[in-house]
Amino acid sequence: MCASSGERLHSHHDNVLELASASHSVHKQTMDIQEHLPLAPLTTFGIGGLARFFARARTVAEIAEALAFAKEKNLSVCILGGGSNTLFDDAGFQGLVIKIEVGGITLERDGDGALLVAGAGESWDAIVARAVGENLWGVENLSAIPGTIGGAVVQNIGAYGAALSQTLAWAEVYDTQKKEITKLSGGECAFGYRDSIFKRHDGRYVILRAALRLLTALAPDLSYRDLAEKFKDTSPSLVDIREAVIAIRKNKFPDMALEGTAGSFFKNPVLPKAQTDILASKYPGMPLFSLPESSDTKVPLGWILDHALNVRGMRIGSARLFEKQALVIVTEKNGSSKDVAALAKEIQNRVRDAIGIAIEPEVRVVAQ
Ligand code: EPU
Repeated sequence: MCASSGERLHSHHDNVLELASASHSVHKQTMDIQEHLPLAPLTTFGIGGLARFFARARTVAEIAEALAFAKEKNLSVCILGGGSNTLFDDAGFQGLVIKIEVGGITLERDGDGALLVAGAGESWDAIVARAVGENLWGVENLSAIPGTIGGAVVQNIGAYGAALSQTLAWAEVYDTQKKEITKLSGGECAFGYRDSIFKRHDGRYVILRAALRLLTALAPDLSYRDLAEKFKDTSPSLVDIREAVIAIRKNKFPDMALEGTAGSFFKNPVLPKAQTDILASKYPGMPLFSLPESSDTKVPLGWILDHALNVRGMRIGSARLFEKQALVIVTEKNGSSKDVAALAKEIQNRVRDAIGIAIEPEVRVVAQ
């Protein structure tokens, strides 16, 4: 009953979950579930074999239908957004990949700002561009990050001193355990550095929409060195900041049109201050970073890889540490997950041997 690559099957479910209480327009429909779909084009790494099953979900009803299909067939499920932080295996994924394409953006102004509500499948950077275009502050430092807003919430994306957790008002989710739609406040999302309830309860919640609280007047956040240097003694506009962040990123990260990457491959280790003080005395030139979510300190792993281990540009097969930013793994077109995994392992071992710290991937690595 195996269909050939890309052939479509229809799933038939009488038991499509009742979501009448949803605030969305819910219509019962029979969705396309594809078989043996290549995953590589769906990720910025451009790596990955075939998805045994694949569905695009534009509505809550379609998400529920796809999940019911997986349950009936006893398949594991992988929820995918923009594919910019996911590494699939060369051997593909044996379960069902559900690509979330819930769309729609609304902006409601109030006294001192606006609430921007977006479907989980909307492009994150299009949302930032919209906010800046509307003269609203809060997400400009997070310009040019690839992926969807759904993925941005799961990951609690952060850059240049800011994190998504600072502006998220609520996330509307489908709770697959209770089979109901619910809204989680920013606090309930339990954000940490590149962490959220969505990562800890992997698979329980599927994000449907997210609301950002944006402000008409806010002091620019120039706490990050790259921005502080650029805007010394000036008062940049929203557009200035967005353009500066885009330029900094362009200079630091690989061109995703030419090579495969998912940005930083590892998380920066977050350690109690006493521990980072010891490291700082071992490496006097090393900068330390504070976090919006805790009093712990973020150790710049990129700096350690670059200055302490001297591994910029290190290569295994098709994968290498990017020449301009050692925390980034980059692959040539048609790269292999095996090479990425081997390089990551080698780096983990070297960091453990040098500073006794176990580092974790920031990228979601999806096993076969
Ligand atoms: N550094 C080096 N050499 C390197 C890389 C970094 O000396 O090869 C130094 C930098 O000069 C800087 C420090 O290490 O003093 C930190 O580097 P950077 O500012 O580039 O930030 P990062 O910690 O490497 C994090 C995020 C990025 C985000 C940047 C900018 C993580 C895992 N990564 O990188 O997010 O864009 O800060 O704020 O937290 C991503 O998550 O994929 C991502 C790209």
